[in-house]
Amino acid sequence: MTEKDRFARDVLHGLNATPKTLPTKYIYDARGSELFEQIMHLPEYYLTRTEHQIFENYREAMLQHAPARHFNLVELGAGNGQKTKLLLEHLLATDRSFTYYPIDISQSAIDQLAGNLQAELPDLEVEGLVMDYFDGLTWLNQRTHRPNLVLFLGSNIGNFTPGFQHQFLENLWFSLQHNDQLLIGMDLKKPYRIINKAYDDAQGITREFTLNLLHRINAVLEADFDTGSFSFYSCYNPLVGANQAFIYSIRQQEVRIGALQRSFHFEAFEPILVEQSFKFSLPEIEQLAHRTGFQIEDHFMDDRSLFVDSLWLCHKPE
Ligand code: AVI
Repeated sequence: MTEKDRFARDVLHGLNATPKTLPTKYIYDARGSELFEQIMHLPEYYLTRTEHQIFENYREAMLQHAPARHFNLVELGAGNGQKTKLLLEHLLATDRSFTYYPIDISQSAIDQLAGNLQAELPDLEVEGLVMDYFDGLTWLNQRTHRPNLVLFLGSNIGNFTPGFQHQFLENLWFSLQHNDQLLIGMDLKKPYRIINKAYDDAQGITREFTLNLLHRINAVLEADFDTGSFSFYSCYNPLVGANQAFIYSIRQQEVRIGALQRSFHFEAFEPILVEQSFKFSLPEIEQLAHRTGFQIEDHFMDDRSLFVDSLWLCHKPE
């Protein structure tokens, strides 16, 4: 199946569901990734800034239990690597012996990140892996037999449904060795208005980011979404524990998707769920860790308790 076929299949599946959904991950083409970069710098979007502060304040403590011998510092979906750079600089300064392995399915993301880091930190040993996360980890374990410290930052786990969060962490547990560590960034539950502002910013960047999905479906799947007749709505749903972002049609209309050889009907004001960003309480995080085979070593938080980077140990004594 080609990439386009998978995209078409996922769109078909979402638009046939009740209520309609569209798959979040396809927002991130070149334009979507550029808009997400802008989101990370928005005053309302506290997540990136807060996690960066946590790294500044606690990088020594985060690395306190890092393996003494040469280890793999593995990052799943590294993005622009700004937070990780703080950790890398610190590790290099303290003379620890490690190789940095960012893993991502996007060749261009890996090339860009590895190139930048090599230029900024010439002493860093970095090897980017263009693979699925779990294939990358399995490949690494077979090849190096070294302990792993795995980073999964930015509350990326929050974009998975609870069922998929479990499945993802269980898969991770299977791909790791006894005493490997996971540092996982999670956005915490907090007053709803802070979340609402973060996901519906005054400049409308998040709106553009979300609606980018319709532009991409038009461009790649030969669709005729009249993007001007779709609007954006976002709010935190405390019953679900997630911010939910929707696109909705402002009038009744039919949209043809050429690659699927069919048309879809949209009622006026019918919501299409495009993204969920789950928020966590500390007890929920502890339960998630224990159910998926991990032990919590430490929680690193900012002073307003907006965000946590939680350090987990993979427990496999047998
Ligand atoms: C990538 N992910 C963790 C972001 C989030 O907060 O859910 C994506 C995002 N969507 C809107 N703003 C940011």
